[in-house]
Amino acid sequence: MKFEPYVHLNGALVPSSEARISVFDRGFLFGDAVYEVIPVYQRRIVYWHAHLERLNRSLQSIRMRNPYDAEQWETFIGELVAHHPESNQSVYIQVTRGTEGNRHHLPDMDICPTVVMFSAPLPPFSAENAAKGLSAITTEDIRWQYCHIKSTNLLANVLLLIHAHDEQAEEVILLRNGKITEGATSNVFIARNGKLMTPPLNDSILAGVTRQAVFRSAAKAHIPCIEQELSQKDLIDADEIMLSSTTRGIRPVLYLDGRSVGDHKPGPIWQRLMQPFEHELTQALETGTCE
Ligand SMILES: Cc1ncc(COP(=O)(O)O)c(C=O)c1O
Repeated sequence: MKFEPYVHLNGALVPSSEARISVFDRGFLFGDAVYEVIPVYQRRIVYWHAHLERLNRSLQSIRMRNPYDAEQWETFIGELVAHHPESNQSVYIQVTRGTEGNRHHLPDMDICPTVVMFSAPLPPFSAENAAKGLSAITTEDIRWQYCHIKSTNLLANVLLLIHAHDEQAEEVILLRNGKITEGATSNVFIARNGKLMTPPLNDSILAGVTRQAVFRSAAKAHIPCIEQELSQKDLIDADEIMLSSTTRGIRPVLYLDGRSVGDHKPGPIWQRLMQPFEHELTQALETGTCE
């Protein structure tokens, strides 16, 4: 029998074909919503606290309360994860401001949020797969100003990825006022002369959970890792370029704007990050915790 995915909707686990949301939901009408994507390996949540903290920050930034406490989230995620045949999953959480039965830009701040969760199979991170690398292009960052909020307003990201696909690339590295911000779905690192560099956090960048894991892995591998503004020239002069995200881990960019980066193989800095990065993931699984 074919597996029917389940969806967690407002605290209840339902088959996806039975999950219903109002057309007046503000997430649908206005993108008035935030989201998280959380990795689950062997049915255990990894980096949970970092994701929950970021969800709280996103909700606060759009003047919403978190509808659940940590324990309720863990119960609901556990129910969803238990229902999926794959033990490794990425869990998508979306919290919208809710439904008012009409369409007014100005929300009633007291309505009940809508909470949707579903999960999809997630191949566990492997350095061997990641070594295949990615190709990326650079382009102007056309997104809104508040990219530190993990908002579901992703139309610009969608258009940027369609553009990348047209150019046979898998990711877009974005530039705002001549400075690198991030990828359309990832954070960006550059290696040069044995050092790692990444743009500092501000409202143009999402504070990636994997970005923090890169800092920790770099410290363990004794690679200096600094936050500094970076330009397109820094990309051109880079020995290595890497992207980080929950679903992709740390991936080397082997082609940028149709030209090879370094000698179009994963470079030595990326390789040195792999052991501590994989070790941290394994430990997080064994102990169920992580920084
Ligand atoms: C715009 C953007 N930046 C960065 C990231 C990386 O964040 P994380 O490592 O928490 O997945 C993502 C992930 O989806 C993203 O969409």
